[in-house]
Amino acid sequence: MSIRVRLLLSYTCILLVTILLFVAAALLFVIALTGDARSLKDFYSIHYSVNPLSKQEESIFLDLKYLAKNEPESLLDQQLLDEYNFKLRAVQAELFIRKGDVQIYSSLSVKQPGLLHHLPDYEMANNAIRNTLQVGDHFYSYSKFDFYFPDQTKGSVMVIRERSPFAEVVRTLLPIILGLLFVVLLLMNALLYYFLTRSIVQPLDLLRRSADRIKEGNLAFELKAEGQGEIARLSEAFEDMRVKLKQSVEKQLQYEQNRKELLASITHDLKTPITSIKASIEGIRDGVPDTKQKMERYVNTILTKADDMDRLIDELFLYSKLDLKQLPFTFEKVSLAGYIRDYLEDLQFDLEERGFELEWEMTLGDETLVHADRDKLKRVLANIVDNSVKYRGGGTGKISVLLQREDGNARLTVRDNGPGIPGEALPFIFERFFRGDPSRSRQTGGSGLGLAIAKQIVEGHRGTIDARSVPGEGTDIIIRLPLIRPQEEKR
Ligand SMILES: Nc1ncnc2c1ncn2[C@@H]1O[C@H](COP(=O)(O)OP(=O)(O)OP(=O)(O)O)[C@@H](O)[C@H]1O
Ligand SMILES: [Mg+2]
Repeated sequence: MSIRVRLLLSYTCILLVTILLFVAAALLFVIALTGDARSLKDFYSIHYSVNPLSKQEESIFLDLKYLAKNEPESLLDQQLLDEYNFKLRAVQAELFIRKGDVQIYSSLSVKQPGLLHHLPDYEMANNAIRNTLQVGDHFYSYSKFDFYFPDQTKGSVMVIRERSPFAEVVRTLLPIILGLLFVVLLLMNALLYYFLTRSIVQPLDLLRRSADRIKEGNLAFELKAEGQGEIARLSEAFEDMRVKLKQSVEKQLQYEQNRKELLASITHDLKTPITSIKASIEGIRDGVPDTKQKMERYVNTILTKADDMDRLIDELFLYSKLDLKQLPFTFEKVSLAGYIRDYLEDLQFDLEERGFELEWEMTLGDETLVHADRDKLKRVLANIVDNSVKYRGGGTGKISVLLQREDGNARLTVRDNGPGIPGEALPFIFERFFRGDPSRSRQTGGSGLGLAIAKQIVEGHRGTIDARSVPGEGTDIIIRLPLIRPQEEKR
């Protein structure tokens, strides 16, 4: 059974029980007030009938009327009248008998002294037997019968009953008041139902719809949790789950995309030199190179392309080994300043030959050590310098190396004055197979693995590598490697 139906059922039950209790309370209240359960029956018959008196009162009145008609002298019998009066008082009515202008029997309480003077005149035709009269604030209903006593004096027998104006009003309005109470009860229930549904059922409904959307594979929506109750927390947890799921699906898709791109790149990069080798070999087979020089050119092409392929396969192999964390690092304590200085000194001559200015500045003392795998770190430096050389701008190329301390790290900056890297390419240069030149021209000869390998190696050293570049001015590649703290050095 759904929460909605359960709520509806429980509210209906509460409503019914409330109504039952209300009716029972009203019943008990009336019985307590009137002392008679039957009076309930007369509750409305009194008011709505022409008869202003209740049934009991009326039947006593009819007895008296019979006596007045047939044995008027008996209405002078004090004892008989007392008996009638006793019966009437039991139902809160009173007996009144007058003879001429004299009141011969009256049980009327002295509550209303003016009442006697307000009683209706004789009306022998008895056309208005039942009526009401008002004396000041008090309100009475009566049944009157006028007759002649045996001595021909006029007489009246009256059964009279005082009505409280408040009780009258309540009686008149009781159905409306009851109706109103019922409406209030209904409204209260409806409101309670509405608020509960709003705070429980609706958020649950939303959760269910969201779960359905996820089931259909739609994760691109946001589930907003309102309030702070359990349901809101459930919604928050659900939203967290959706975000995590979305991230993981996106990651999966990204992996899948990367895998496809990797495959495409490898295929492309292997296919190009092979095509060229095939063409050269076919040329030789068909006797195209007819001179020794031409033949040499053909053979050289084959060699260069085979070299390219060899290099690419080597790089790929290295990269995948690093990526699979299958290539062990042989760490030793290395004085970074000394190590880099040695490397640059070795490189200087070669670079100058190729028209490059190389300069370096080291504010890090030789005594500062890092854990490093010398060979692999050399690979990193070579790849970076290789890029600066490969992507040189016009004019004299300049490479500056700066080594300094930054917090607990050694910070190595390799700066060149090349063309720089466009902002949109900068975030991707450390990704495998990413090349700034989308035409993949072989002029610069890159496979797009150089910086990806550098990154793998630096991260293997628990360091970081990133790049800054101003297009047209140059590129900075920044490597941070954790320094060995003095207390570690002794170990
Ligand atoms: N110093 C630099 N100046 C300008 N562009 C650079 C520089 N270094 C890297 N890049 C850009 O970043 C891209 C990625 O560099 P990366 O070294 O990873 O690949 P590659 O040089 O193309 O190929 P590989 O290094 O494998 O021969 C390059 O293609 C180039 O567009
Ligand atoms: Mg490179």
